[in-house]
Amino acid sequence: MCGIIGIAGTQDAAPQLVEALRRLEYRGYDSAGIATLVEGRIERRRSPGKLTQLDRVLQQKPLGGRTGIGHTRWATHGAPTESNAHPHASRRVALVHNGIIENFRELRSALIAKGHHFESETDTEVAVHLVTDLLDQGLAPVEAAREAVRQLTGAYALAMIFAGHEGLVVGARKGSPLAVGYGDVEAYLGSDAFALAPFTHRVAYLDDGDVVVLHGPKVEIFDSAGQPVQRQIRMTTASAGLVDKAGYRHFMAKEIHEQPEVIAHTLAHYLDPSALVVQLREPEVIEVLRHASRLTISACGTAFYAGLIGKYWFERLARLAVEADVASELRYREPVYPAGGVALFISQSGETADTLAALRDAKASGQTTIAVVNVPESSIAREADIVLPTFAGPEIGVASTKAFTCQLSVLAALAIAAGRARGVIEPDREHALVASLLEIPRHIVEFMTQEETVEALGGDLAKARDVLYLGRGVNFPLAMEGALKLKEISYIHAEGYAAGEMKHGPIALIDENVPVIVLAPHDTWFEKTVSNMQETMARGGKVILISDVAGIAAAGEAAYANIPVPAVDPTFAPLLYAVPVQMLAYYMALAKGTDVDQPRNLAKSVTVE
Ligand code: AGP
Repeated sequence: MCGIIGIAGTQDAAPQLVEALRRLEYRGYDSAGIATLVEGRIERRRSPGKLTQLDRVLQQKPLGGRTGIGHTRWATHGAPTESNAHPHASRRVALVHNGIIENFRELRSALIAKGHHFESETDTEVAVHLVTDLLDQGLAPVEAAREAVRQLTGAYALAMIFAGHEGLVVGARKGSPLAVGYGDVEAYLGSDAFALAPFTHRVAYLDDGDVVVLHGPKVEIFDSAGQPVQRQIRMTTASAGLVDKAGYRHFMAKEIHEQPEVIAHTLAHYLDPSALVVQLREPEVIEVLRHASRLTISACGTAFYAGLIGKYWFERLARLAVEADVASELRYREPVYPAGGVALFISQSGETADTLAALRDAKASGQTTIAVVNVPESSIAREADIVLPTFAGPEIGVASTKAFTCQLSVLAALAIAAGRARGVIEPDREHALVASLLEIPRHIVEFMTQEETVEALGGDLAKARDVLYLGRGVNFPLAMEGALKLKEISYIHAEGYAAGEMKHGPIALIDENVPVIVLAPHDTWFEKTVSNMQETMARGGKVILISDVAGIAAAGEAAYANIPVPAVDPTFAPLLYAVPVQMLAYYMALAKGTDVDQPRNLAKSVTVE
């Protein structure tokens, strides 16, 4: 999703702006641009496509200036063209925007009636003309910005610079994240602390409704009532070094391979390996879950599938009633929240607009809110009552991999803790479950030796137009996650189904061209899943069985291909089976030659609804 940077600086701004934008690339974008003040005039350079294209533009037409703004745009209103790329500008103001201005049509009509001429199809441009109009009426820049923001509805983060006002950058936040960076001689605005890390680690996050004014290094923040306020300055842990691919071809490949380490790191936060018990460093969560009347789990995309797997765990291990729904539905469907209920939200970025809105709604309805997040300074982390961190590290590939398995690690530990607290799990069972969880990283390392098998299979299956994924119990949500992973990076149509649902409809799709990926550890339901496999194979379907040695032996020779994985406690199988599923999607995408890390149309952090 769009990324913003603003610099009230003392040195050449253009290289700094581009460096910061490079750190925001992971969010997903399809055009980019920067604007600076050159001898008091607004100058800008923009380009459709990736930053390398903007680099080329800057080589041909370098840009000076020390005060500037920059933007990576993920198109919402209007195609990713140069004229729609940010910054948008008039002779008086240049502006970058993340989010959606909902009342842009009304404002645009009024401004056109006043003689303003629009050059783009974006909602953003309306803010430029609004500020210009207010400046033309005689308002000073900061007042014009504040008045314009007052007139905008929707969710946005904005940063603007003004012709003739060297060193002045004004920002505003409503709904979309915006951070302020405090330097010694400069000040900055950025969509996240990661963008600001090369310049400063002293960062404050704006609240909704805040307007911030940077005058060189001086920072003033005003709340939605226009009152001066202080926002807590934190030292961020974001690394100044660019996260690199460490020799891998893609961030996604690197992140798949990091899983043994980051899962172990996340489990280490929640488990005591000597006593084989869950040891929460957030003890208040135990009381909350002990007395919970119901647990509502919500998230978007991959994080939601982690939540669905969590639902199986909380029900089975803690006998806790769970409702799970995607945040974009939960927030609008007027759910009935019970007294004493707990609502748990899961997010890698901690900025997903729908998840944040659902959290706010649950909180307002009296639920105790828990957030499982990867970015500790994010909006969701700051607004939840209890935060349970994942330790995946920065996830750059748009397709979530290591964040997903770290989310599962936290949910598994939490479900065991809830089971203990609610008297469902005896100490012996807890020891056994914790021991099984602790073995997962080692089993993933062991599975990695199968990578070449998966690579070859990926090349073979990449010709498919449709792919089905089947799983039962905890592996059903993983089947849906597998399908999501494949479609988002390879653009192959894929669906995940509960294995038992096949004959209720999807089996009609089966022919020799449709690979069916079956996720089936040798567990209590294995025989039933094998029957579903047989039904598929009888109709010419190409079954690819992901199972342990016992499962592959029991299924016989019939599968088109097998992906063997180590035997694990079936309760936690999704933590291991996620890896072959991700790897297969990766190698199918690689064979198709798609942009694996930044697939078309997708954004890493979805800060609009
Ligand atoms: C995963 O591969 C996706 N790109 C996407 O579904 C993602 O999981 C979803 O947008 C939620 O993001 P979050 O975890 O940052 O809230």
